[in-house]
Amino acid sequence: MTQKKIVIGNMKMNPVSVVEFERYLDMLGKEMKKNDFEKTELVICPPEVYLTKLVDEKISGVKSGVQDIFWEHQGAFTGEVSAAMVKSLGAGFCIVGHSERRKYFGENGEIISLKLKAILKSGLTAVLCIGESMEERKREQTSGVIKKQLKEAFDGIAPGRLEHIVVAYEPIWAVGTDKLPTSDEILEVKIIIKKSLAEMYPAKSIEKVRLLYGGSVKSNLVEQTCLDPAMDGVLVGRESLMPYEIVKIAKIIDGN
Ligand code: PGA
Repeated sequence: MTQKKIVIGNMKMNPVSVVEFERYLDMLGKEMKKNDFEKTELVICPPEVYLTKLVDEKISGVKSGVQDIFWEHQGAFTGEVSAAMVKSLGAGFCIVGHSERRKYFGENGEIISLKLKAILKSGLTAVLCIGESMEERKREQTSGVIKKQLKEAFDGIAPGRLEHIVVAYEPIWAVGTDKLPTSDEILEVKIIIKKSLAEMYPAKSIEKVRLLYGGSVKSNLVEQTCLDPAMDGVLVGRESLMPYEIVKIAKIIDGN
């Protein structure tokens, strides 16, 4: 069975009130009533405080996820939330390794690997973000950076777990900027990711890892960022704050 395509909305730290989030859910529900995806999963990752609202809304065709977890299961870790807690609320996905977490919260390869393991152990699907900076790209270090990030994250992960990992290629310079790589540049990185995984795992298990593109995705850019380089879906930031837009993106991908 071929795996479904996947469109993930990363709402980041938005919106700022529960009232606005309820309005968002209302609009999303209306958009989804008009659409029925066959080959595509739509996942929304709101701030954790709104997760229950999303789960309880039970919008047909919409799955839920979070943007981060702490790697320990439970205990004296003030302010933190574990993957098991999120799973128990009904979430199915968790983003890990996002460039904003690497930048603002000092998350390195070791931390990302711990979080990835905790996510998989809890039964959630992990959405691992990797990507190079513009400086690294200019210095032709993209391949090395991607390889290193994958090696660090996948350290100690058994092949049987791979079907629960989605890898999102998010060039740091394309996140939140409106700058975009060409389809060929995305395709080149897709090949680098496949080759790096092939150095670690048997071919059969690698097939199960879905590869997404993320960074300034909009509905009119789905062809360039997803369809042309034959990615398995997209990770969407800003545009996911507009239900009409994220559903439109999923619709385009589902129809291809
Ligand atoms: P963007 O964010 O779509 O706003 O560029 C993407 C992301 O951070 O996942």
